Amino acid sequence: MNLRIKSFEEYQSKYQESIENPEEFWGAIAETFSWQKKWDKTLDWNFSEPKINWFKGGKLNITENLLDRHLPERAEQVAFYWEPNDINAEGKTITYQELHDQVCQLSNGLKELGVQKGDRVCIYMPMVLESVVAILACARVGAVHSIIFAGFSSNALADRIDDAKAKLVITADGLNRGTKQVDLKSMVDEGVKNCSSIENVIVLNCINSQPNMKEGRDIDYHTLIKGKSSTFAAEPMDAEDMLFILYTSGSTGKPKGVVHTCGGYMVYTSYSFENVFQYNEGDVFWCTADIGWITGHSYIVYGPLLSGASSIIFEGVPTYPDAGRFWQVCEKYKVNQFYTAPTAIRTLMAHGLDVVNQYDLSSLKVIGSVGEPINEEAWNWYYENIGKNNCPIVDTWWQTETGGIMLSGLGDLSPMNPTHAGYPLPGIQPVLLDADGNEITENEKEGYLCMKFPWPSILRTTYGDHDRCKNTYFSNYDGYYFTGDGAKRDKNGMYRIIGRVDDVINVSGHRFGTAEIEDALNTNEFAIESAVVGYPHDIKGQGIYAYVVVENATNKELSEITASLTESVSQGIGRIAKPDKIQIVTGLPKTRSGKIMRRILRKIAEGEQSNFGDTSTLLDPSVVDEIVKESL
Ligand code: WT7
Repeated sequence: MNLRIKSFEEYQSKYQESIENPEEFWGAIAETFSWQKKWDKTLDWNFSEPKINWFKGGKLNITENLLDRHLPERAEQVAFYWEPNDINAEGKTITYQELHDQVCQLSNGLKELGVQKGDRVCIYMPMVLESVVAILACARVGAVHSIIFAGFSSNALADRIDDAKAKLVITADGLNRGTKQVDLKSMVDEGVKNCSSIENVIVLNCINSQPNMKEGRDIDYHTLIKGKSSTFAAEPMDAEDMLFILYTSGSTGKPKGVVHTCGGYMVYTSYSFENVFQYNEGDVFWCTADIGWITGHSYIVYGPLLSGASSIIFEGVPTYPDAGRFWQVCEKYKVNQFYTAPTAIRTLMAHGLDVVNQYDLSSLKVIGSVGEPINEEAWNWYYENIGKNNCPIVDTWWQTETGGIMLSGLGDLSPMNPTHAGYPLPGIQPVLLDADGNEITENEKEGYLCMKFPWPSILRTTYGDHDRCKNTYFSNYDGYYFTGDGAKRDKNGMYRIIGRVDDVINVSGHRFGTAEIEDALNTNEFAIESAVVGYPHDIKGQGIYAYVVVENATNKELSEITASLTESVSQGIGRIAKPDKIQIVTGLPKTRSGKIMRRILRKIAEGEQSNFGDTSTLLDPSVVDEIVKESL
C-alpha cells in the first residue's frame, strides 16, 4: 500500500512523468512488488502485430505477491468478509494466512489431478470464498483460469470450455440468489457432456443438494483438499505468461477469450485500485460485481489483495430481502469504499429513500460507478443520498480488454463533472479520432475513443486467434487500440463516454453482441431470421429488442412463439440475455445487397415513427411501414 498519489497536483506531475518516460514510470512501480527474477526489458511493443511485452524475462508468481508477501505484517488481517445471500445466516471471514493456507491446499489438490503450468481451468462458481481460493490456486500452480459467470447457460459454458480446451471445471452443487436456488451441477453435467478436453470436475458443496457424482470424473472439493499441505511452492511464471482468459462479446461471432498476463496485470490492477479508490490501511472496500466479470477479477480479487486490503464478497442481490440490502451491508461492515453499477443505482433509486435512511452510511468515503454511462439523475441521487453530498463519485471507465480502470477521478483528489468519467490514469494516453482516423483536438466533439500507447494490463491476444485480436482492436485505426466506444472531451479535458459505436449492447452493465443473440434466436424452430438492436431502457441502460421472422407459425399463439424464442436465448446464452421485446415481423429492412439496415431498426426500437434518413437503398420500403405499425 505504497502506490498512492495524494493530491491532484501530484497526479498531474505523475501523469506527465508517465507520458514522457513510461518505462521508468512503470518500472519503478513494478519494483515495489516481489519478483523471483528481475525483468530484462520493461516494454517492447508494436500495435501493428500487435505485440506487447511488459517486464519480459521477469519471473514472479502473482499469488506470492498477494499472499506470501503480506504475511509478515498481515497474517491475521481479514482478507475477505463473506456476506451470505440469507440475511439471517452467519457470515464468514478469511484472513490472509487462512487464504494462503487454503490456496496452497487446493494447489496441492490440483497438482494431484495432474494440472500443470499452462493448462486451462474453467471456474463456474457462486460468490463464495472458495471461488477466490480456486482462482488463486490456478494462479499458484501456473494454470490459466477461465471464469464463466454462473448466470451463463450450459451451452455457453460448453462453448467456452471448447474454445479454451479446458481440462478441469471447478464448480459447486448450486447457488443462492435472492429467493432462488440454481442447480449448477446439472448445468455443468449438461455442458461438459460433449467437451472432450474435460478430465475432471471439482464440486463444492454450497446448497447441500447432494448431486450425482460421475465416477472417475467428479471429485468433492473437500475430499480433494483433505489432509493436503498448507504450503505449496508457487510456480515461477514469466511476466508475459498467461494469467487468465476471460470471454467477452463483440460485434461479430462468438465471444472471444481476452488474454491477460501475469506481470502487467499485477502492476496495473494494484496501482489503479489504490489510486482510484484512495484505499487506506484499515479501510473496508466493497465491489458488488460478480467474480465472473472483469470487475470482479480486478477489483474483488487481484487489485485489493495485491494491495493488502480487506474487502467484502457478497453472495446476494441488491433487492433481497428488500431494497435496503446494500445499505445494510455498508452499515454492518462500515464500508469505506463502495463500488457498484448504474443499473443497481437506478433499481434502488426506484424504491425510494425510506429504505436508505434506515442505515448509517457515514463510513463511506468514496463511491464508485462502473459498467455503463451513468445518467445525471442517477449520479445526483447517488451523490446526495448515498454519499450524503460528502463522497466523491468515481465514474470508472474501462473494459475487459483494458484489465483495469482507465478513465476516472482519483477518490476526492480530482474535480468531478456528473456523467463524465474524467481524466486518464497515469500511463493512459487516450485520443478521440474522427472517421478518417485524425485526432480530434477541439472540445465537445464526439469521436472514437482510442489509445495510442500501451499500459501494463492491456490485452495481449484473443485466445487461439491472434488475428481476431488484431482485427477487432488494432486494425480500425493504424497504430491505435480501438475501444469500440464513442466519447467527448469537455473544455477541462475530462472525458465523457457516449456509448458503444459497434454492435455491442450493454444491458445492466453486461455486454452482449447482437450477432450472438441473433444466433441463439435462429436456433429456434420457428425462426427464419432475426435482427437484434439495443434501445434505451430506464433501469437497464439498454434493453434488447429482437425482430424475428418466423415460419410454420400460423396455427400457434403469438405468446407461445415469443416464449419459445425467449427460451432459445436462455438456453443459448443465459437468462441474462433474454430479449425485453420480441416483435414478430414478416420481413427485415434490407438493402439490395442483402444487408440488414439496423439503423432503421434501432430508430423504431427507440419509438421513432418516421424520419429514417436515407432509405433509397432499401429493397422493399413497405417492410419498414409494416414494422412501424406493429412496433412494441
Ligand atoms: C464497456 C466494457 C470494465 C467494466 C465492466 C464492463 C462500457 C464501462 C463505463 C463507464 C460509460 C462504461 C463501455 C465499455 N463502460 N464502464 N464508467 N461509463 N461506459 O466491462 O463488459 O468489458 O464492457 O462497458 O461501453 O466499452 P465490459
